[in-house]
Amino acid sequence: MYLEAGLLTRRSVRQFEKGRKIAKEDMNDILKIAMYAPSACNKQPWEFIVVEDEDKKAKITELHPYAKFLTDASAAIVVCGNEQEQCDNGFWLVDTSAAIENLLLALHGKGLGGCWCAIYPYADRMKAFQDLLGLPEYIKPNALVVAGYPLKQPTQPQDRFNPNKVHYEHW
Ligand SMILES: Cc1cc2nc3c(=O)[nH]c(=O)nc-3n(C[C@H](O)[C@H](O)[C@H](O)COP(=O)(O)O)c2cc1C
Repeated sequence: MYLEAGLLTRRSVRQFEKGRKIAKEDMNDILKIAMYAPSACNKQPWEFIVVEDEDKKAKITELHPYAKFLTDASAAIVVCGNEQEQCDNGFWLVDTSAAIENLLLALHGKGLGGCWCAIYPYADRMKAFQDLLGLPEYIKPNALVVAGYPLKQPTQPQDRFNPNKVHYEHW
C-alpha cells in the first residue's frame, strides 16, 4: 500500500467478522511492525499480551466500558510498558503509544482493522487489567487494541488538515 494513502485511510474499526482468527504469521508481522516504533534511548520497553481466548475476551468487555465490540473481534492486544526497561521515568507511556500507532497501521496495511481503547490513565482500569492478565507491578497497561477483520470499511472523515493548528516560529 502506498504509504501516504495508507496513513490517511486508517480508521478505527469497531465492527468485525465474528469468529475469524488472525493467522500467527500475520500476528507476528503486525507485532514486528509495532516493535519498529521509535522509543527513547531505543529501549523498546513494550510488552504485548495477545488475548484470543473467548472467556478472557468476555471478561475484558466486562471491565472496559468502551470496548464491547471486542466480542466479535479476533483478538485483544494489550500493549504494556515495562518500567524496568524504559529510558527514564515516564517514557514507557510515549514509547508504547508510538508502538500502538504502528500496530494500528500494520493492521490496516494487512487488510485488518483495529481500535485503540484506553486503559491508561484510569488507575482502576489499569489495576483491573493487571489483575486479569497477571501483570507484575512494573508492567503498565497502556491500551487495548481490539483487532480483527473489518465487517465493513468505516466512513472516511472530511479533510483533517487544519492550518490553524500549525504555528511557524512562534505561537
Ligand atoms: C488514547 C485513545 C483512547 C481511545 N479510547 C477508545 C475507547 O476506549 N473506545 C473506542 O471505541 N475508541 C477509542 N479510541 C479511538 C478514538 O475514538 C478514535 O481514534 C477517534 O475517534 C478518531 O477516529 P479514527 O481513529 O477513525 O481516525 C481511542 C483513541 C485514543 C488515541
